[in-house]
Amino acid sequence: MNPQRIRWMKNLCDIADRVSIYSSSSDILSDSSEPTKILNLSANENLFLEVATLKRIMFEVLDAYDPRLYRSNYEELRKDLGALNAANPEQILLGNGSDQILDLLVRSVLAPKDHAIVICPTFSMYGILLQCNGTLYTEVPLRSDFSMDVDSILSSIKPNTRLIFLCSPNNPTGNKQSLESIERLVRESGCLIVLDEAYLTINTSSVKLLEKYDNLVILRTFSKSYGIAGLRIGYALSNNTLISILQNRIQYPFPVSSFSIDVAVRLLENYSLIQSADTRMRTQRSRTFADLKSIRGVTPFPSECNFILFDVEADSREVQRDLLKYGILVRNIDNVLDFSNCLRVTIAPEDMMKQFTTALMEVLS
Ligand SMILES: Cc1ncc(COP(=O)(O)O)c(C=O)c1O
Repeated sequence: MNPQRIRWMKNLCDIADRVSIYSSSSDILSDSSEPTKILNLSANENLFLEVATLKRIMFEVLDAYDPRLYRSNYEELRKDLGALNAANPEQILLGNGSDQILDLLVRSVLAPKDHAIVICPTFSMYGILLQCNGTLYTEVPLRSDFSMDVDSILSSIKPNTRLIFLCSPNNPTGNKQSLESIERLVRESGCLIVLDEAYLTINTSSVKLLEKYDNLVILRTFSKSYGIAGLRIGYALSNNTLISILQNRIQYPFPVSSFSIDVAVRLLENYSLIQSADTRMRTQRSRTFADLKSIRGVTPFPSECNFILFDVEADSREVQRDLLKYGILVRNIDNVLDFSNCLRVTIAPEDMMKQFTTALMEVLS
């Protein structure tokens, strides 16, 4: 083989060796012969927004849409998101889902030999992106009540630590960290704190921290409360300087499709739809929490997200497989600190959750 080819192949093979595979629960669908119509409660999508309503908005956008052009309502969406978050449009960076912004931050902030911290258990993409980038990182565990241990995080900081990932409310534990502890981490760490608020609809109190600190980036997404995961829109909020460098020097010229941007602008004009879906999700979350609590051998954890983490007195992998026989897909999480059989279920409308809790009772009986 020609030596040039061997060199690039080696690099690719090194990446393959060190990077974990992002595991979505749908992996188990490919090797199962279970019902073809699966109720997917594994990806934390928003099933409360009616698909017919979203399609109506999409058709309205389509009417005036010209796919031949790059043109997009990029600036309009930045303005709308600024107004929604009590921030300036210059503080907002749009990306192809928040995953793409996470990738952008890892590649642009971390130089070779820099170190990062991940507060875990948490969203697996932080570790995967750091592994892809060849960045060494330390995992600092949450306390047993899932609060973060700021002292322990601060004592894990090395001279070359540059970036700390913090997810609040956290996937998969579902809890929020206090604003005081987040502020202390931002104030005392000296690192860039990437605060992933994917599961919040809106939160202006963390945005207020941006007025005081320039080492904070807040991430949000249209994939959860805003119900358009398939259209791939995420955004970052930070100070003007950092956003301007990311936007003008590093981000692609057209990271999100102009169609997705137009739909997002229309969706924000119909904000009451999002609020109403969020209210219905919260009501259902309380019901499902109570239902899970009443099942023997199940320990659900309180959640501020559109999912609930729960531990079972059984092998969680088997419970996941057995639920699939009833046509229901949930995420197997395995270990969460001292709980060794955890699963995560997305909150969906009542009929779907009834289907899930009934099946779970049968599986565990
Ligand atoms: C905590 C967290 N951050 C980010 C994402 C990715 O969101 P997006 O669809 O915007 O890429 C997810 C997706 O599940 C998530 O759970």
